[in-house]
Amino acid sequence: MKEIVVSGIRPTGKLHLGNYFGAFKNFLILQEQFNSYFFIADYHSLTTHPTPEDLKGSVKRVLAEYIALGLDPEKCTIYLQSDVPETAELYLFLNMNAYLGELERVTSFKEKARTQPNNINAGLLTYPVLMAADILLHRGVKVPVGKDQEQHLEMSRTFANRFNRLYNCEYFPEPQAVSLGESLIRVPGLTDSGKMSKSAGEADSIYLNEEASVLNKKIMRAVTDSGPQEAGAPKSSAVQNLFDLMALVSTQETIQFFEDQHIQGAIRYGDLKKQLANDMEVFIAPLRDKINTMLGNEKLLNEIAAFGAEKARKNAQKTMREVREIIGFGNR
Ligand code: AMP
Ligand code: TRP
Repeated sequence: MKEIVVSGIRPTGKLHLGNYFGAFKNFLILQEQFNSYFFIADYHSLTTHPTPEDLKGSVKRVLAEYIALGLDPEKCTIYLQSDVPETAELYLFLNMNAYLGELERVTSFKEKARTQPNNINAGLLTYPVLMAADILLHRGVKVPVGKDQEQHLEMSRTFANRFNRLYNCEYFPEPQAVSLGESLIRVPGLTDSGKMSKSAGEADSIYLNEEASVLNKKIMRAVTDSGPQEAGAPKSSAVQNLFDLMALVSTQETIQFFEDQHIQGAIRYGDLKKQLANDMEVFIAPLRDKINTMLGNEKLLNEIAAFGAEKARKNAQKTMREVREIIGFGNR
């Protein structure tokens, strides 16, 4: 039996470079070898966007990006989280054995509680439980995600093990965060405010269908420090970010050139940015074309979503029949 892969992305906007290198790039590889489920986490987006103006549009957009960039509905199961309401039932069961103390300690919860003090809802607190439900619903073992999701995966393991212990069974496997070939990835943003993130504002993210002129402007305006440091001085975090981005799209030779310039204290940030903008455009241009073409293909996207929903539900229903049985509810 092939191992099961599960992962999702919230439809809170367009996909950016962090989504791509942290998660999506691995989806493309994993779909070739495993039994993979890739979904759009629209339930999750309600924890931060309770009344999304255009949730349908955002979902359609991410779906178009999934397909345009190479997810193949024949090779993997692609679906919307809300098309599989079994997710919500498993979430309910797992919530009964998730404790307030452990949920309150989750970094992402503390951060969100700080950034949206007027909406510290229970969904935000139990975000990791919903995420565990997504994964365990398919009895997933490999979960391609970026570094920011490490703690959530740890919680998924806790909930899986707790369920097994409580009901004296070996039902759920332990899911592991995976990134192919290397450790989990964190793509920095352009504003030196940490990981690339939609919530850090427009100037922070590079979107996968960014127009050439906008891309250039964003990179040329990226935060740096006040000038070349003296020879041998360590890089500031803002400059390190630019090097980290360069590592994703530039050749080894180019990177080495700027590393040398930096070590000599002779680096010109304008040149570094120009090179980065250039290499980034070479990387983005084909993605942009594919995404823009797919966006107009409404009918195909609807068909793909319906096809995926059916496949995902079938598996989810099997799991939920077994889970109800294990807990002690009858199945009719
Ligand atoms: P989100 O957009 O927060 O739903 O994230 C979807 C996926 O993209 C998750 O697997 C994240 O770990 C990954 N991701 C988002 N931002 C970054 C980033 N800046 N660096 C690496 N991975 C990221
Ligand atoms: N929490 C993830 C994020 O924001 C998205 C997500 C929801 C997810 N459910 C998941 C990722 C299940 C992997 C598996 O990035």
